[in-house]
Amino acid sequence: MKKRILSGITPSGDQLHIGNYFGAVAPQIKLQDTHETYYFVADLHALTTVHDRMQLEKNITGVVLDYLALGLDPSKCVFFRQSDVAEHAQLAIVLANYISYGQMKRMHAYKDKLQTGASEESINMGLFNYPILMAADILLYKPYGIPVGEDQRQHIELARDIAESFNKTYHTTTFPLPEPLISKEVGRIVGTDGERKMSKSLGNIIGIFDDEKLIEKQIMGSYTDPLRLKATDPGRVEGNPIFLYHDLMNDNKEEVEELKKRYREGTVGDVEVKQKLVAAHMHKFGPAREKRAELASKMELVRQILSEGAKKAKEIAQVTLAEVYNTVGENGLK
Ligand code: TYM
Repeated sequence: MKKRILSGITPSGDQLHIGNYFGAVAPQIKLQDTHETYYFVADLHALTTVHDRMQLEKNITGVVLDYLALGLDPSKCVFFRQSDVAEHAQLAIVLANYISYGQMKRMHAYKDKLQTGASEESINMGLFNYPILMAADILLYKPYGIPVGEDQRQHIELARDIAESFNKTYHTTTFPLPEPLISKEVGRIVGTDGERKMSKSLGNIIGIFDDEKLIEKQIMGSYTDPLRLKATDPGRVEGNPIFLYHDLMNDNKEEVEELKKRYREGTVGDVEVKQKLVAAHMHKFGPAREKRAELASKMELVRQILSEGAKKAKEIAQVTLAEVYNTVGENGLK
């Protein structure tokens, strides 16, 4: 029997970036062939930040199209929208009782928000409770592994804690503990500022499906080696984000090796290295960009994919929720 895998993505923006792709989406797509896979768009999670309904709809559609264009195959995996499966929200209500307020206060999403200067008074409860909903997303399907980027590790640990606490309370084995599947190499793709994690809210991304001119602008503005002032200065390749992006995106490995050699020697300028990266980006994602445009004209098909995905996801979700209600005593009058 194939092992079960589950993962999600929050439509807090309307497009994925290469950090999402290499850190999570590409590994997830690879797992389709060897595992039983469940992937979903976590639209309820997006409500923590998106309070404009038109924007939310646009974001959901955008992320769904991105995923399908990048190779998610609905004939191999179950692909659905979180809000179509009401059991996610229902299980979250139950699970909140097996984790303490103190532990929730230590979660990064909440702490990071406080650090930006937001007051406790202003932080919405959706953000505070977010990791509980995420634990429900996961535990509902009893998956073996969760392929995600490094920034999600703490959330998976919390899901494990909740699962353990629930199992212990009722002396059951209801929830198997999910394993984080996080790559050491690509679990945290650095942004074009060369410092922080690539993230839309930090404005340090390279898009995938944006207009070519915008992608060129994002790449040309990327941080390289700050100690190198002229093209004839020997440059540093290790830790230089432009070369990390070349390693990830440029399928012409000979060109990458040659550029690295010339960079170290001081015989190639930053501009040429970056222009070659723009070309490599267009080559790597060209077919996906075409496919996305084609899919965007077949929205009926896309809706059908999501509706079939939700039906399959619900079959499993219902069974787990019934088991949980039974365990805690909510089925008393049945
Ligand atoms: P989200 O939408 O922020 O990100 C989607 C996926 O992309 C990964 N990622 C990165 N990986 C490497 N380098 C980066 N710079 C980078 N930026 C983002 C994320 O780690 C993630 O895997 N809470 C989740 C969505 C979610 C979920 C779930 C995931 C909701 N429920 C249940 C797994 C299981 C999130 O906001 O990811």
